[in-house]
Amino acid sequence: MKALTYHGTKDVRVETVPDPVLRDGDDLILRVTATAICGSDLHLYRGKVPGLTHGDILGHEFMGVVEDVGPAVTNVARGDRVVIPFTISCGDCFFCDRQLFAACETTNPQEGVEKGRGAILNKKSLRSAAALFGYTALYGAVPGGQAELVRVPKANVGPLKIPTGLPDEKVLFLSDILPTGYQAVLNADVGPGSTLAIMGAGPVGLMAAACARLKGVGDIYMIDHHPYRLAYAKATYGVLPINFDETDDPAEQIIQLTQGRGVDAVIDAVGFEAKGSAVETTMATLKLEGSSGKALRQAIAMVRRGGTISVPGVYAGFIHGFLFGDAFDKGVTFKMGQTHAQKYLPELLGFIQEGRLHPDEIITHRMPLSQAADGYKIFNDKAEDCRKVVLTP
Ligand SMILES: NC(=O)c1ccc[n+]([C@@H]2O[C@H](COP(=O)([O-])OP(=O)(O)OC[C@H]3O[C@@H](n4cnc5c(N)ncnc54)[C@H](O)[C@@H]3O)[C@@H](O)[C@H]2O)c1
Ligand SMILES: [Zn+2]
Ligand SMILES: [Zn+2]
Repeated sequence: MKALTYHGTKDVRVETVPDPVLRDGDDLILRVTATAICGSDLHLYRGKVPGLTHGDILGHEFMGVVEDVGPAVTNVARGDRVVIPFTISCGDCFFCDRQLFAACETTNPQEGVEKGRGAILNKKSLRSAAALFGYTALYGAVPGGQAELVRVPKANVGPLKIPTGLPDEKVLFLSDILPTGYQAVLNADVGPGSTLAIMGAGPVGLMAAACARLKGVGDIYMIDHHPYRLAYAKATYGVLPINFDETDDPAEQIIQLTQGRGVDAVIDAVGFEAKGSAVETTMATLKLEGSSGKALRQAIAMVRRGGTISVPGVYAGFIHGFLFGDAFDKGVTFKMGQTHAQKYLPELLGFIQEGRLHPDEIITHRMPLSQAADGYKIFNDKAEDCRKVVLTP
C-alpha cells in the first residue's frame, strides 16, 4: 500500500510499504477514505519530537471503511464506515472507566521495544498514558493513518460508526481537532455571556471558536499573526481579532477592553512552539528550554482574577518563564492535556447532524494522498492561506 512516511526534518514521502495485518483479536483493518494533517503533525515534521524512526507512518486524523476485523471485534463489522479517534484506549482500565481515555494505562507499552513514555520527564514508576496513532515511539510506535490501510487496535472502543448520508468531510474532524476544541471550551468553564480569549487561529483555535459559539459565549478575542486566519475567524465565528505582530501587548489590550479585568477564560491553542520570543525559541532549539512559554505567559496576563486557562496546545518539559507567581496572585485555574476524544464523539456527531457544527468549513486544501508531502509543506509554511489539508488515498 501507499503511506506517508517520515525521513527526517521536513522530509516526508509517500512510499510503498507492506500492508498492515491483524495482530490482536480486537484489531480491525481500515481502508482509509479521508485523512487530515494536524498541527501536531507539524511538530513531527519540524523534527521537534524525539522517537521517530526513518519510515514511520504518520497521521492520526483519519476515517474509512472497515476492511477486516479480528475475532474479538463485536462493535463494528466489515463494510462499516467509521471515524477513528486519535487516542487508543482499552475501555476498561482505571482511567477509561473514568472516561479519561487519553490517560488509558494499557495501550502504550510499558516495556519491550515498543515501550513509550510520552512527553513526561519526571515519570518515576508511573504508567505511560495512551498510545496515539502515528506519534513516535513515545506514544507506542503505532503506524498512522495517512495511508491507504491502517491497523486500528481496540476496535470495540474507538471507532465511531457514521450514519449514511454524512459525507467524509463533515465528520473527519471528529478524529481529533473537533473534540479537542470542544474539550478546550468545556475545560475553560465558559457559558452564555462569558468572555474568552483564544490564542492561536489554527484548526484547533478555530474549532474552539466554533464550540464556544455553540455554548453561547459572548465576546471572543482571538490572537494570532496570520491575517488570513484572523480574518476567517472574524467572518465565520465573529471573533475580535488581535494580530500580535501589530500590537505590542495583546494582554494589555484585552485588559483595557474588559473594564481593566481580563477575560473569564483563555484557551491556549498554540503550544510549545509559540512564536514571539526569540530568546525562548533559541533556548528551546538548544534544548535549554523544553517549551516556549510565550503564549502561556500571555494567557496568565490576560485572564481575569479567578479565571481559567485551558490548554489544548501541546507542551513538553520545563519552561523557565512560566510566572507561576502571577497565576497564584490571580487565583487562576489550569486545565489541560490530550483530548479524551472518545468521550465526546456521540454528542459532537449529534451537533453535526443537527447542523449546529460545520467543522468541514475550515478545509482549504483537498489533495490526493500521493501529494501529501506538498500538503505538509503548504500547511507548515501557512502558504496559499492554508487552514486545513484533507488527503484522499
Ligand atoms: N490536546 C490535544 O489533544 C491536541 C490535539 C490536536 C492538536 N493539539 C495541539 O494544538 C496546537 C494547535 O494545533 P493547530 O492544528 O491549530 O496548529 P497550527 O500550527 O496550524 O496553529 C497554531 C497557530 O498558533 C499561532 N501562534 C504561534 N505563536 C503564537 C503566539 N505566541 N500567540 C498566538 N498565536 C500564536 C500560529 O500562527 C498558528 O496559526 C498544537 O500544539 C497541536 O499540537 C493538541
Ligand atoms: Zn492532532
Ligand atoms: Zn484504558
